[in-house]
Amino acid sequence: MKDVVCLLGSPRPKGNSAVMAQALCEAAAGTGARVTTFALNKLEYRGCQGCLVCKKDAQACVLDDGLTPVLEAVRACDVLVLATPVYFGEVTAQLKGFIDRTFSYLHAGYAHLPRGQRSRLTPGKTLVFVIAQGHPREDLFTDIFPRYEYLLNWQGFTQSHLLRACSVYHQGDAAARPEVLEEARTLGRKLAAPD
Ligand SMILES: Cc1cc2nc3c(=O)[nH]c(=O)nc-3n(C[C@H](O)[C@H](O)[C@H](O)COP(=O)(O)O)c2cc1C
Repeated sequence: MKDVVCLLGSPRPKGNSAVMAQALCEAAAGTGARVTTFALNKLEYRGCQGCLVCKKDAQACVLDDGLTPVLEAVRACDVLVLATPVYFGEVTAQLKGFIDRTFSYLHAGYAHLPRGQRSRLTPGKTLVFVIAQGHPREDLFTDIFPRYEYLLNWQGFTQSHLLRACSVYHQGDAAARPEVLEEARTLGRKLAAPD
């Protein structure tokens, strides 16, 4: 059974990125996956403090807050779904706060280790980025996914997928785009299928 963890990065619980992620996750659950969803905006947590304890005395992040169970769940998952709106050309602050804390997944001396040995996570995990973008121009903000795809590859996310909708601004816009929801469901079924 595939273990899917979904992090909702938007403050809007029924926003476009959440609706897209939900379509994907429901299809994955319907295909037999176990899905755990965290709404980051409801959690209390700090960004990475740069203390580097996770590179000296500890094997995990030593902050104890709302992200602690999230980091544990992601450590064990097969598929990680990161859903976010575009905010000022970036992921939301809520999601960036989580991503920075995944620094704790990297071994001490990670920069000098071969790719594939840098992470404390088991390799072969799958990353799905779900992006809701208000602007209709598809050529804008295309840098978001490849940047995080590259960085999270270090953590052991060796396969990655992008589900993106442009021209979705108001809550309800993505729900009115059947082709977007169908793409989400198709990907969810594919990712939940046994290897
Ligand atoms: C603070 C803020 C910043 C935004 N910045 C951008 C942006 O840089 N580019 C863009 O295309 N849309 C931008 N938007 C629009 C959102 O990306 C769009 O409304 C999206 O559908 C919201 O997703 P959600 O419903 O999942 O929250 C911004 C919206 C807000 C509230």
